[in-house]
Amino acid sequence: MDLENYITAHTEREPDYLRTIFRNTNIRLLNPRMQSGHYQGRLLKMFTRIVAPRNVLEIGTFSGYATLCLAEGLPDGAHIDTVEIDDELEDFIVQNLNLSPFADRITLHIGDALQIVPSLGKVFDLVFVDGNKRHYRQYLDMVLPLLSERGVVLADNTLWSGKVLDTPAGNDYQTQSIIDFNRYVASRSDIEQIILPVRDGLTVIRKK
Ligand SMILES: C[S@@+](CC[C@H](N)C(=O)[O-])C[C@H]1O[C@@H](n2cnc3c(N)ncnc32)[C@H](O)[C@@H]1O
Repeated sequence: MDLENYITAHTEREPDYLRTIFRNTNIRLLNPRMQSGHYQGRLLKMFTRIVAPRNVLEIGTFSGYATLCLAEGLPDGAHIDTVEIDDELEDFIVQNLNLSPFADRITLHIGDALQIVPSLGKVFDLVFVDGNKRHYRQYLDMVLPLLSERGVVLADNTLWSGKVLDTPAGNDYQTQSIIDFNRYVASRSDIEQIILPVRDGLTVIRKK
């Protein structure tokens, strides 16, 4: 048994509806690897339990897998806004959210997070940034002023399959954007941050 299997075997099981969503996404969507999956999903739930947020924001819903992991850890009365730019995913996402007991605690917005989030007029305690890798810096600049004092931002894919070591990244704009984002985060004196080598890299950010 390799270490990854060992970790998963000794980590909380995911609910059956998440297994179903994961499987259906693999069958129906291109790039199913974009969804968080069992191990990272359990971490997202654990973060939600620890932060105990009133309002959660997710940028990039895709199948709704991570949305439901975040929802699982929510305290009573808390809410998730999740934003997905691809309107062709709407029916699939709604169907997936309805497989869980948490659909009434989640609002799905279809559109560009950069336009939708400022119009929500909310303060967030937990933000999961998982949209277009080329816009990560813009997402961060947008959400930091909307973050509560105890708020936490989680940014996914910040190791980008290890390609962040390929500097310069040439014409690979996604890799270059993640490299730029990581540099930008590290250079800001008003936030503290740590990159966890979980799956494809997960950066945890707080305001000082
Ligand atoms: C990596 S997937 C999200 C995976 C999901 N958060 C999970 O962990 O299971 C990224 C998603 O972000 C969406 N996206 C890209 N740019 C966006 C934007 N500006 N606003 C909202 N969604 C966006 C894409 O269409 C895609 O479905």
